[in-house]
Amino acid sequence: MTADDRAASPDRARRAEAAIRKVLLAEWAPGGVKEIPEAQDESDGYVGRLAALLLRRAPYLDVFNCLWRVETVEMGFPMNRERTEGVARKLVALSEELGRPSRPGTTSQLQTARLLLRAPVAADLESLSRLLTEPEVAARWPDYDRERVRTELVEADPDEVTVLVIESGGTVIGAIQYGEETDPQYRHASIDIVLGRQSWGQGFGPEAIRAVASHLFEQRGHHRLTTDPAEDNVRAVRAYEKVGFRRVGLLRDYERGPDRRWHDGVLMELLPRDLR
Ligand SMILES: CC(C)(COP(=O)(O)OP(=O)(O)OC[C@H]1O[C@@H](n2cnc3c(N)ncnc32)[C@H](O)[C@@H]1OP(=O)(O)O)[C@@H](O)C(=O)NCCC(=O)NCCS
Repeated sequence: MTADDRAASPDRARRAEAAIRKVLLAEWAPGGVKEIPEAQDESDGYVGRLAALLLRRAPYLDVFNCLWRVETVEMGFPMNRERTEGVARKLVALSEELGRPSRPGTTSQLQTARLLLRAPVAADLESLSRLLTEPEVAARWPDYDRERVRTELVEADPDEVTVLVIESGGTVIGAIQYGEETDPQYRHASIDIVLGRQSWGQGFGPEAIRAVASHLFEQRGHHRLTTDPAEDNVRAVRAYEKVGFRRVGLLRDYERGPDRRWHDGVLMELLPRDLR
């Protein structure tokens, strides 16, 4: 686990390492060295590596290979294949649980030159409700009354979506959220953002999107991000393009607008090499 991983979410990193140690001490401990202090120091190294793998939900084979390497190459023990496979399976099962923020308040904070992106708290309900009911904002994020802001943003289910409130100089100016597809075959994340009308046109949107995109690539291990603004939302399309997102398709009759009619959307994608 790198210092960056820890800084991004020390709480999750600690939880991961504690859970991994428990499994290793109970089931693995190559050579039966669990009581020896030097062995504990040694384990700090590979427990960190395993935690990084689990937090980015690495596949079974990566976890197995890591254990195999530690056991044979680094410690020089003969491999006990059956036991190592069992431990790898147990660790992969843990990763589903560890990959989630433990509760909404512990989502990472991201700091940019001008913005703080942080987990929502109850006190944000007021400001977010006000921003989302501004007519020009509601034209893009329709139907966010107070109750919906509470359930979908302030108290959003972390298994569904991660919401970060955007602050500039201590004032809440909007929110950005991402959802993660966990099926390993199609793993990716999608981003959505909203700023209050007064904060438009100052580059805050791209600044927040860039921070979240870097976080998703570097800390969450994603290789592909998507977003899907309305086709006529020129400002949003441009804001995403400024970060490196590319238009890759037209989503016909994709979303219902505030006028209750179906409108086209634009599918946009960002790969790590496109980020700017
Ligand atoms: C979309 C949004 C996040 C953009 O953030 P922002 O901070 O206003 O973005 P920027 O300040 O970088 O401005 C956007 C860009 O669009 C350009 N733009 C704005 N209106 C435009 C128009 N009508 N035609 C062409 N370009 C336009 C701006 O000039 C700017 O580009 P530039 O810096 O190259 O000049 C923000 O406007 C917002 O929250 N809108 C309401 C919610 C929304 O639409 N969310 C996106 C849904 S996916």
